[in-house]
Amino acid sequence: MRILFQNIKALLQVREEPIDFVSGKDMCHLPTIKNAYLLIEEGVISDFGKMEDSPEIKADKTIDAKGKMILPAWCDSHTHLVYAGNRESEFVDKINGVSYQEIASKGGGILNSAKKLQQTSEEDLYQQTKIRLEEIIAMGTGAIEIKSGYGLTVESELKMLSVIKRLKENYDLPIKATFLGAHAVPDEYKNNKEGYLELIIREMIPLVAEAKLADFIDVFCEEGYFSVEDTERILEAGKQHGLIPKIHVNQFNSIGGIQAGVKYQALSVDHLEEMRTEDIEALKGTQTMPVALPGCSFFLGIPYTPGRKMIDAGLPLALASDYNPGSSPSGNMNFMVSTACIKMKLTPEEAINAATINGAYAMGLQNEIGSITAGKKANFILTKPINSYQFIPYSYGANQIQQVYISGKNLKY
Ligand code: NIG
Ligand code: FE
Repeated sequence: MRILFQNIKALLQVREEPIDFVSGKDMCHLPTIKNAYLLIEEGVISDFGKMEDSPEIKADKTIDAKGKMILPAWCDSHTHLVYAGNRESEFVDKINGVSYQEIASKGGGILNSAKKLQQTSEEDLYQQTKIRLEEIIAMGTGAIEIKSGYGLTVESELKMLSVIKRLKENYDLPIKATFLGAHAVPDEYKNNKEGYLELIIREMIPLVAEAKLADFIDVFCEEGYFSVEDTERILEAGKQHGLIPKIHVNQFNSIGGIQAGVKYQALSVDHLEEMRTEDIEALKGTQTMPVALPGCSFFLGIPYTPGRKMIDAGLPLALASDYNPGSSPSGNMNFMVSTACIKMKLTPEEAINAATINGAYAMGLQNEIGSITAGKKANFILTKPINSYQFIPYSYGANQIQQVYISGKNLKY
């Protein structure tokens, strides 16, 4: 099947030569072809260029994209899409002045979601998650990472990862799975964190790796959760089983988690709402992608990742949704891109780079998605008629998407 798009007002994020990610000053450059064509063959990008240079192409289907733009689908490199039920009552508590940490210390938060998930069947969990996945694909997400971490028992962590596996089998977009057994210390181990660490290291990690249920390993490295030392132990065990680190750090406190991530060659370090100068320094010249989660800052009312400062310091930056029931109950990447511009002072070019090619890198998918490059998957967004791509983040809360293509197929949910 050959599909030809013609008269595209602007084809965004065109990379003739594949790149891994963009950082620093290069982030403000979003390579664009105006009045372009794009050819898709068997779900893969096969050719593109200026309309005036377009060769005679025989296609099964030709689409006139006059007035519309095409850009790579969003690459959401950090989500907790698999969860049971919701936490609206905690939302109301927060409105009434109770903090996220206070809610957690009273058995709410992650432990609340874990209780719900433990009581939910795998089938039910799959059905609940599928609705969210289809919802975010419709909002332009074309690749996603999904974490476990609301199970906190061997059985329930495996249940979550099995749901992710089923999603991988049933949906065409790239999905990466992350084992996050170290998301919180379960109640049964309240006075025995060491016991839970042993369970993660000796039982969970080997089982998860053996069954090939995860690509990455994650830890919530934070005061009251897992220390830097705990984090290093878990990353070490994960690495021995072939799991690549991608960790939660510096959400509320800067305690050295970034340095631990860099030491273990984490693919990404995520959250970063609290950044010291030495944290920025530690990331310079590394292959570790810093990931900002502006939906979490927005929803919890905590500081935004200092993205402007980090890019000015020469670092790369990726944007992800953190879609989860406690700190970011939305997977709308259009909103994350807008918020990055409005609150973190990224330019539209920087935000689009952060949510496409840099997000792809943060999942190890930079050779498959994240840019308009021949040979990459045809996962892209066809916009409504718009005047400029700046209109995409400008029109916050809405999305300018007319259609989403996954492997060249126009998906409608
Ligand atoms: O990334 N901070 C740790 N984990 C999630 C939130 C989990 C929850 O509140 O359910 C996050 O924000
Ligand atoms: Fe998270």
